[in-house]
Amino acid sequence: MRWNLPPDDLPTAWFNVAPHLPAPLEPPLHPATREPIGPDDLAPLFPMALIAQEVSTEPTVDIPGPVLDVLRLWRPTPLVRATRLEAALGTPARIYYKDESVSPAGSHKPNTAVPQAYYNKVEGVPRLTTETGAGQWGSALSFATSLFGLECMVYMVRASFEQKPYRRMLMETWGGSVVPSPVDDPGHPGSLGSAISDAVRDAVGRSDSHYALGSVLNHVLLHQTVIGLEAKQQLELAGERLPDVVIGSCGGGSNLGGISLPFVPDDGVRLLAVEPASCPTLTEGHFDYDFGDTAGLTPLLPMYTLGHEFIPPTIHAGGLRYHGDSPIISALVRAGRMEAVAYAQSKVFEAGVQFARTQGAVPAPETTHAIRAAIDEALVAKELGEERVILFSYSGHGLLDLSAYDDYLHGRLTD
Ligand SMILES: Cc1ncc(COP(=O)(O)O)c(C=O)c1O
Repeated sequence: MRWNLPPDDLPTAWFNVAPHLPAPLEPPLHPATREPIGPDDLAPLFPMALIAQEVSTEPTVDIPGPVLDVLRLWRPTPLVRATRLEAALGTPARIYYKDESVSPAGSHKPNTAVPQAYYNKVEGVPRLTTETGAGQWGSALSFATSLFGLECMVYMVRASFEQKPYRRMLMETWGGSVVPSPVDDPGHPGSLGSAISDAVRDAVGRSDSHYALGSVLNHVLLHQTVIGLEAKQQLELAGERLPDVVIGSCGGGSNLGGISLPFVPDDGVRLLAVEPASCPTLTEGHFDYDFGDTAGLTPLLPMYTLGHEFIPPTIHAGGLRYHGDSPIISALVRAGRMEAVAYAQSKVFEAGVQFARTQGAVPAPETTHAIRAAIDEALVAKELGEERVILFSYSGHGLLDLSAYDDYLHGRLTD
């Protein structure tokens, strides 16, 4: 069963969670002085419109018309009820997922790539640099920059660059340039933190370039709230009540923020972050100011972190290999408004395969984390005999990650 919204029901404003946070966020600090940073400190990296969104306390932010025009290429995305998975589990729970895999790049990432490319275009910046883990964000930004006529330079975590050649080919098809990172250490598997260092170093070294971040920052989570806003409308269309739990896999927090932030004001709705056991930022990290990158070039952010020098093991869910977390997500977890759980790789692939064999679609390795948690919630509901309503973000498809499934199915996956 699926619920589609007509193109005219695409949200025309993003949802800003800032007024709903338990306390205002602590400000980012300058990497050298450790003083709070101002707009001028960020201007070498981001256009002013995004810097303004980063600190906005308005309840909503209008989505520009040219951005809506591009988002309508695939949005609104479907809300699907996973009835076959429910039946296989024998659960009284109703499981819904928001299908972000239908975007051109195959994940939620274009929801923010498009506005980021647009605002840079408006400010006259012709070239963007960025990092990418598994290649989802890099392909989203390559797609978005191609539509607005910008150049795109992608630093791809070396482990994924070598494991996932098809993502590189996709980026190049959209006109992006892709190099493995860290650029100065060819023997190193890399991490999102080190790829961010490479991309920031490139952008600040050139007057024609800005940097674009695929997650973590407030404006990125803001752009992703179209996911949760649409899901709310679609649940109503389905005649469903508010969910008991909203679930998202969490790397830097943009997918999770996108589906869950519009539910923050709804008191009875539990919010659940799912992360890999090998990079357990929210469940085992400590809350502190830390750098967003490995080399210490970015501002210090108040967040749960494993330390900016932590290099996570090379799991298949490359998009979840980040040492820190979004300040918004961190604040919600710290305040007890959001819960977090971590799973080992074999457990999430088991869930991914169960999903594929019941619902048909093959999820991205990052997405299998959310599916694992949704299944476990549904099994608890079964044990308790509860009619739980579960909503999760189906953040991406796994059709370019089949080598990961091959490893799982043939016993080569390690935890
Ligand atoms: C399909 C998919 N889901 C989830 C994520 C998690 O990232 P974030 O927490 O930034 O949304 C990624 C990151 O690359 C991804 O590709």
